Amino acid sequence: MYCCRAHPSLGRELVAAKVYRPLETRSFKRDGVYQQGRDRGARPDARVLRALGKKTQHGRAHKFSAWIGHEMRTLEKLHAAGCDVPCPIERVGPVILMEYVGDAEHPAPVLVGVPLSTDEATRVYQRILENVDLFLAQHRVHADLSPYNMLFWNGAVTIIDFPQAVDPRYNNDALELLVRDLANTNPFFAALGVDVVAPRERAMSLWRRHVDAEG
Ligand SMILES: Nc1ncnc2c1ncn2[C@@H]1O[C@H](COP(=O)(O)OP(=O)(O)O)[C@@H](O)[C@H]1O
Ligand SMILES: [Mg+2]
Repeated sequence: MYCCRAHPSLGRELVAAKVYRPLETRSFKRDGVYQQGRDRGARPDARVLRALGKKTQHGRAHKFSAWIGHEMRTLEKLHAAGCDVPCPIERVGPVILMEYVGDAEHPAPVLVGVPLSTDEATRVYQRILENVDLFLAQHRVHADLSPYNMLFWNGAVTIIDFPQAVDPRYNNDALELLVRDLANTNPFFAALGVDVVAPRERAMSLWRRHVDAEG
């Protein structure tokens, strides 16, 4: 991740550039789970499918690119829906340019380690739950949610890091990933004295409202 001085045409002084490392070095965490159903709606290209199956260079390059494109589209969708995510600016090859959170001296810290009072932590936690709800309304489960993927700046939280996000309509593991997202978010807040939700119950209730209701 790089903080860059922006071209005046972008209308902001600083932008964040998330540079994806080539496939050889980036470990695609349990890629299969997250890819499931990803290409729904897109016409599968037989040549690409064969290449993916064979783990050829062409197949790997296609996967790498799909992963980045998916994060860009997810950021666009969620930002447009009013979620607390960085405003995406542009994707250029392996780079996503997005709103930079922080100032010229300091990037915003990740939430882990930020000393919050119980009241402030409660407010931030509620806002995160609202975001999880908004994500589902946009057919997304973050799938790597934790205080390590939340930035804290000027009293507000920004949720980042979406390449592995899944669409609950098409991904069989989405409910479990949603439970895990809530479970991974809770301990940080519980330690600050926040009254946290039961992950499975909250996930089921969100599921009934957003996924079953649309079924
Ligand atoms: N929009 C942003 N503004 C400022 N810092 C950011 C921004 N996005 C990410 N970062 C920083 O870069 C780190 C890595 O970004 P992230 O999207 O979580 O990728 P990954 O965890 O896959 O490396 C974050 O932990 C955070 O410190
Ligand atoms: Mg991250």
